[in-house]
Amino acid sequence: MEGLSVLAPAEPAGGAERPAAAATGTLYGVGMGPGNPDYLTVRAVQVLERAHHIVHFCKAGRRGNARTIADAVVRDPAREWALAYPYTTELPPDDPTYVSALARFYDEAAERMAGALGAGRDVAILSEGDPFFYGSFMHLWRRLKDRFPVEVVPGVTGMSGCWTRAGTPITWGDDVLTVLPATLPGPVLAQRLAGTDAAVIMKLGRHLPKVRAALAQAGLLARAVYVERGTMAGECIVPLADKPDDEAPYFSMVLIPGEGRRP
Ligand SMILES: C[S@@+](CC[C@H](N)C(=O)[O-])C[C@H]1O[C@@H](n2cnc3c(N)ncnc32)[C@H](O)[C@@H]1O
Repeated sequence: MEGLSVLAPAEPAGGAERPAAAATGTLYGVGMGPGNPDYLTVRAVQVLERAHHIVHFCKAGRRGNARTIADAVVRDPAREWALAYPYTTELPPDDPTYVSALARFYDEAAERMAGALGAGRDVAILSEGDPFFYGSFMHLWRRLKDRFPVEVVPGVTGMSGCWTRAGTPITWGDDVLTVLPATLPGPVLAQRLAGTDAAVIMKLGRHLPKVRAALAQAGLLARAVYVERGTMAGECIVPLADKPDDEAPYFSMVLIPGEGRRP
């Protein structure tokens, strides 16, 4: 393997223009898949092996899950940069304090990345699942994409890993799939659920009681499957109706498999 530039696709991925003379480093958004490192792509491994800096988001004092997945490939901590969120679930996401703290956090992180990229160093930002699917990477990508070459490495999404492990095909025939963050208000969840054939409800955490109520209102509780830490150690998959409590960690989701055309 000669180097990342040799491996990069002819056209830059991720929507950015590649500057004519690429004296700068490349910003990589690396999809890390749903959890089990066996689901890392060949391209993700190539980038992880060669990037000068490996960046991951985390809760203060904790190791991010994407970084844990990278253990299968990254063994030299000297390349690592941890970006600790100022807040995670302490404040509602529309609280002005949260919004301004997060904006400042992403601005400062982007400038730190820009310093490295401007010095010709490749920066790989780890992203659970796929980087362009609810990924924090997108906030840095938005700030840097017009200044530096970018390559986004797609990943197997968490939901794909979850329905695979649950053994439940998610859509058949003309089924419409709706992806819902559990952070939405209950009536919105119920309304969206009532109008779809199949659904994935993400970001459960403390919202599980609200999700249960919305599913019951939409008449879907009996079809709901709860998946915790899909493909990872500690995986738990049960019909939601059989789950006795409303405890749900960050890495959990509810699947409503479609029941469409099956000749
Ligand atoms: C901010 S979103 C990031 C999604 C990610 N970019 C992807 O492509 O899956 C985080 C949510 O993804 C879901 N998630 C991701 N991986 C998961 C897994 N292995 N098991 C259960 N839920 C998962 C959870 O609902 C979690 O709250």
